[in-house]
Amino acid sequence: MQEIIRCGDIKDDLSRLLNNLQYSGLFILTDSNTATLCLPRLESIPEIMDAKRFVIPAGDGHKNLQTLSQIWEFLSQSGATRKSLLINLGGGMLTDLGGFAAATFKRGIRFINIPTTLLGAVDAAVGGKTGINFGGLKNEIGAFCPAVAVLIDTRFFRTLDSENLLSGYAEMLKHALLSGSEALDGALSFDFDGINCDRLTSLLFDSVAVKENIVRQDPSEQGLRKALNLGHTFGHAFESLSHEQHQPVLHGYAVVYGMVCELYLSHIKLGLDRAVFLRVTRYIKENYGTFSIECNRYERLFELMQRDKKNETNTINFTLLRTPGNALINQTATKGEIEEALDYFREIN
Ligand code: GLY
Repeated sequence: MQEIIRCGDIKDDLSRLLNNLQYSGLFILTDSNTATLCLPRLESIPEIMDAKRFVIPAGDGHKNLQTLSQIWEFLSQSGATRKSLLINLGGGMLTDLGGFAAATFKRGIRFINIPTTLLGAVDAAVGGKTGINFGGLKNEIGAFCPAVAVLIDTRFFRTLDSENLLSGYAEMLKHALLSGSEALDGALSFDFDGINCDRLTSLLFDSVAVKENIVRQDPSEQGLRKALNLGHTFGHAFESLSHEQHQPVLHGYAVVYGMVCELYLSHIKLGLDRAVFLRVTRYIKENYGTFSIECNRYERLFELMQRDKKNETNTINFTLLRTPGNALINQTATKGEIEEALDYFREIN
């Protein structure tokens, strides 16, 4: 299991970590944004000055086999060995890709994740999922391989715009729903009109702890970890549809829209309390706005859900909630129920 380090001063925390790890050869992966916006904060560390660097283009479109191959080539040509250490400095795209490059290079070298987005810190960088997109499908190829450590420094998030903060907060909302009523009350009382950074930081670390606790019990997603897919069955379909329609929505936005539909299913199928469901829906609507879906897109959404890699048989799988803190995995719904959830989503728009 990876160590999560809540950074006071990232330079001290990273130096200490590097001094404690035995490795031969240090490598840093950044993208074109984090190379200029984030790496300078680490550059005064002697080990970082001597490390070999590789910069990839930013954007999910580059989370592919070609970029992966370039990272392997870089490691190989720069003399990386099985004892080398890779630092991934970036958002979820970069930590997923860099993690997979490390997991596969010479059958696996160790890596450290330093997430530079809220979404990355609360989700992608933590929990050992690594991978790339392939054949038009997100994260189709990958491996479970935890980082040796994840260093979270919230100062990196200060430059994020409110859309990217909200996108990360979507996963925090999900963790709160999986945790229980108290966590949910806390998450729903966070005010994006006057952001309190200390409160956001405290909610963030509580949220990471929820994910860690689940991953510790089920690192390779045999059962319990599927709870983390709450909102993602509809959410991934919305995200793919938004890309097909050339009006892409950020991942977290797609997830909260998906969460509305899946909480609706939770309400009609498992009796999730209407008041809880309405409170969450209202918070989402107020902060994330709407996503317009025409009913002639239902069939396409249905197809996208059927292709989701979370399905183990021919049925579409959901994680639904009986109450906050009580999730049921491997739930199914009829086509009629899925359409009803989509109708509800359109009505609240
Ligand atoms: N993003 C969900 C998980 O890590 O399992």
